Amino acid sequence: MNFEFTEEQIMIQQAARDFAQRDLITDVIERDAKAEFPTEHMKNLIKLGFLGMNVDPKYDGGGMDTVSYVLAMEEISKIDASVSVVMSVHNSLACYAIEKFGTEEQKQKYLIPLASGEIIGAFLLSEPEAGSDASSQRTTAEDMGDYYLVNGTKNFITSAKCGSIYILMAQTHPEKGHKGINAFIVEKDSTGITLGPHEDKMGMRSSDTHSVMFTDVKVPKENRLGEDGFGFKVAMKTLEGGRIGIASQALGIASGALERAIQYSKERKAFGKELYKHQAIAFKLSDMAVKVEAARYFCLKAAWLKDMGQDYGVASAMAKQYAADIAMEVTTEAVQIHGGYGYSKEYHVERLMREAKLTQIYEGTSEVQKIIISRSLLKD
Ligand code: CAA
Repeated sequence: MNFEFTEEQIMIQQAARDFAQRDLITDVIERDAKAEFPTEHMKNLIKLGFLGMNVDPKYDGGGMDTVSYVLAMEEISKIDASVSVVMSVHNSLACYAIEKFGTEEQKQKYLIPLASGEIIGAFLLSEPEAGSDASSQRTTAEDMGDYYLVNGTKNFITSAKCGSIYILMAQTHPEKGHKGINAFIVEKDSTGITLGPHEDKMGMRSSDTHSVMFTDVKVPKENRLGEDGFGFKVAMKTLEGGRIGIASQALGIASGALERAIQYSKERKAFGKELYKHQAIAFKLSDMAVKVEAARYFCLKAAWLKDMGQDYGVASAMAKQYAADIAMEVTTEAVQIHGGYGYSKEYHVERLMREAKLTQIYEGTSEVQKIIISRSLLKD
């Protein structure tokens, strides 16, 4: 086994770290307070080539591997998970779905502008009454011959407003259950699409989250992704990679909180000595570091499997569940180590704790990951 990164992977990690520590840090607290989308920072994310970073260069992508993606996601998430969620959904859900399941025409028309960062992509699976139970899609896509007629509502959609291209799941043959679901590429500007208000969230406040309503939206036949009735599998397969992105995000939130806790424990004195010289604090830091390191290996293992062309669905579920759960634990301890200051905005750790919570919920809750993992253990 080789635990060393390549020179290119280290360069990508460093570029992400510089961007996060130099640019994102400057206004992250303010954007969080105002729930303001990071429009200017997105331009730098594009310049760095991080939107479309895994797409084949023949479609204007960065051609970077999944290990590099994990490294970049961790560094950006240490500072600002509102930015990294846009990056994750764009790369692992929107770009991946089209690159993996799209026709050549779809790739030429939609993947190229997505991979160059010219436009942003979003993934529309969740509905008011279909979250974890994703196959209970109520949004309908009626087959009208030349086109599909879409009606329904999607909610909690990341990048609903800043995104131009939606990967939409909708039910075409309700009598067939999940085998009746189709996936589509939908242009956000299509007639009949309206957005709900910006969600006022607990964390990741500056990412762009809305519900999306479809009223008699015509989607051309050629915009269906994959065979008729294959949409649920498109969604499930795509989410396998999405979960590597969110696992790395959770890892970054946790490792960012750990770095801040270490720094604070060196600066702050109590009972005549620095905090870290108290065993109660040193042991907390040790426990946090072990969890962060384990989460990092889970993420890298899942990424490596994907890069090697091997099955990574269970590995990504394990990475997502573990990294999200420890992100919650590590950020909570970081707040505890900071004491009263940890509860104030200025020290960042309270925000990291709020961000960690969402990683246990979106792209499959921790409980959904346990369904996937336990089913893999118990299948014949
Ligand atoms: N790849 C390919 N096919 C798969 C698959 C996979 N990973 N997982 C399941 N399938 C197939 C199954 O083989 C089965 O097909 P057959 O009937 O032909 O055998 C079919 O899909 C149905 O599978 P299940 O019976 O396992 O489906 P289920 O109804 O029991 O649901 C579930 C399983 C794992 C709970 C799934 O519903 C799920 O993942 N739920 C969570 C949804 C989710 O993650 N939403 C995230 C929204 S996006 C988001 O959050 C983005 C963001 O903003 C950050």
